[in-house]
Amino acid sequence: MLIHSAAQLLTPSAQPQRGSRMGELSIIPNGAVLIEGETIAAVGESADLLRRYPNEERYDASGHAVLPGFVDPHTHLVWASDRAAEFEMRLEGKTYMEIMTAGGGIQSTVNATRSASTAELIAQTARRAQDIFALGTTTAEAKSGYGLEWTSELKQMEVLLELDRQGPLEIQPTFLAAHAIPSGFGDRPDAYVQQICAQMLPELKNWWERHASKRPLPFVDVFCEKGAFSLEQTRLIFTTAQELGFPLKVHADEFENIGGARLAIEMGAVSADHLVKTSPEEVRLFGSSSTAAVALPLTPFGLNELEYTPAKAIIAANGLLALASDLNPGTAWCGNMQFVIALACRAMHLTPAQAITAATINAAAAIQREEQLGSIHPGKQADLLVLRVDDYRHLAYRFGGNLVKDIFKKGRLYQNPC
Ligand code: NIG
Ligand code: FE
Repeated sequence: MLIHSAAQLLTPSAQPQRGSRMGELSIIPNGAVLIEGETIAAVGESADLLRRYPNEERYDASGHAVLPGFVDPHTHLVWASDRAAEFEMRLEGKTYMEIMTAGGGIQSTVNATRSASTAELIAQTARRAQDIFALGTTTAEAKSGYGLEWTSELKQMEVLLELDRQGPLEIQPTFLAAHAIPSGFGDRPDAYVQQICAQMLPELKNWWERHASKRPLPFVDVFCEKGAFSLEQTRLIFTTAQELGFPLKVHADEFENIGGARLAIEMGAVSADHLVKTSPEEVRLFGSSSTAAVALPLTPFGLNELEYTPAKAIIAANGLLALASDLNPGTAWCGNMQFVIALACRAMHLTPAQAITAATINAAAAIQREEQLGSIHPGKQADLLVLRVDDYRHLAYRFGGNLVKDIFKKGRLYQNPC
């Protein structure tokens, strides 16, 4: 398949971008992409590629901008039911953490997710997967974390692997048993941490080797926050996970800074996410670290808070900045990466080009997939978006809708209804 005559073909660098290079989109006007099977085979000017490949099936992209598929490196895609009543409580003045410590919040989704059958959970999650795919997310990281005991955590991992197998959305699973202290362990959180370290992580490793040995091990994530897991508990879980070979991620500095981002950098985590309360000194540490800094602007927006991740400072410090949705039933039931981009440009002052870079190649790096995903280069997986518009800046300029016309996933064309 030869996609040709694209008004703008965005080819941000094949490697993650930092500092002043961040946002170099290398736009080819009248651009073309040759796809062979699941892979990008050639990229260039239409006149050239049309001449060199005269017999290919053609896709006319004239009047449309073409860019890499979005990678969403932080979602909680799999859950049952909803928390609409809590949203109303928050509007009336209760805070997210108050509701959580009173037994609602994450625990309420845990109760619903534990009771849901695998088939129900697949059905509810598949709908969300289809929705975000239609909005241009071609790959998403997705976390467990609404089981908080082995069988229900495993059920979520199985749902994620099954939906990845069904496609077209590609899913990179993360194990987040350390999402909240489950009810029953309220007065002895260390016993739960012990259960994660001594039982769940070794079981997960065994299970993976028996059932998913062709895939890399999932990430292990911890919600490091006052009211969830302390710094010391996070360190313990990380140390155990790392010894077993799991790559690490962390929820850090969402509401209070208890040192999670610094620990993630120190331990070589793949990413540290949220980073609303991260200090200037910690921001500087990202500059000399391979740990990606993942901003989730839908979360403060969803919580009606005014403070956002210091994304500009992270870029200025040479950090590897990525954007994600945080799609979840508590703080942000929205997986629209187009809206993430639009909000990032307003609330965190990114340029549209920086936001797109953070949602593609840098987001791929935040899930260790930058070799295959996130840019339009020969050898990479053919995951591309064709916009309804001819200028990529409309992704930031407009908001709340869907500017994605067609999606190529692993070289296969999926069309959105007009
Ligand atoms: O990233 N902060 C912890 N986890 C989610 C919220 C999950 C929930 O409320 O269900 C987050 O914001
Ligand atoms: Fe999250």
